[in-house]
Amino acid sequence: MRVRINKYLATCGLGSRRRVESYINQKKVSINGKLARLYDYVCPETDTVMVGKKIVKPKKFEYYILNKPKGVVSTTKDEFGRKTVLDFVKTKAKLKIAGRLDIDTTGVVLLTDDADLITKITQSKNNIVKTYRVVVAGRLDQDKIKLLEQGVNLGGYVTKPANVEVVEIGKNRSVFNLSLSEGKYHQIKKMCERIKLPFIELTRIAIGGLSLGSLMPGQVKKLKRSEIYKIFNLKNLS
Ligand code: URA
Repeated sequence: MRVRINKYLATCGLGSRRRVESYINQKKVSINGKLARLYDYVCPETDTVMVGKKIVKPKKFEYYILNKPKGVVSTTKDEFGRKTVLDFVKTKAKLKIAGRLDIDTTGVVLLTDDADLITKITQSKNNIVKTYRVVVAGRLDQDKIKLLEQGVNLGGYVTKPANVEVVEIGKNRSVFNLSLSEGKYHQIKKMCERIKLPFIELTRIAIGGLSLGSLMPGQVKKLKRSEIYKIFNLKNLS
């Protein structure tokens, strides 16, 4: 199977496709001894690809889904010594977080050293839908559902269209699933505040097709590259 050189280099762990394209533009990349161009293809089984004087080969990336518990920070290090999402995984791989959650939010966090995948999941232009279970104080009526779905003005920024699925509506407490393809800082808390529904609890139940399933808070599951690429509808190299 032949693949584009930028995709191949990203699979070798050299960074996102954009970053590896800069190596090609800087004439640092060769294929079988010839300078690579941006639109070249390589055959991973037979071609020799070099960056500088080093032969590069596809890397075995690691992928973990964690159900982040409350009180855990979505950073790789914490200056106050709080538990981080990385404390739940034993590995030497340099994992990064695809889509952070607030300290008091629970739910799906994807940890991986595959920079290209992180870019794909987190860039809003790729429209990866994240679904949250939201618990609020008060009644979620039709007007509020319409606002959440059509866009809430957060003071200068109007949120993109979203989808609401009602789970339970009560006078003093409502529960709903909110699906959105963007992730501004504290976005859901701000949206709830704006429509006068005091926020109680938030859980991310899915990132695209990657859902929590039966994973309990604090539990982590390792996934294969082929599984992850299937979930996100991406073409795998091997
Ligand atoms: N929106 C929020 O307000 N907080 C999160 O953790 C995620 C989305």
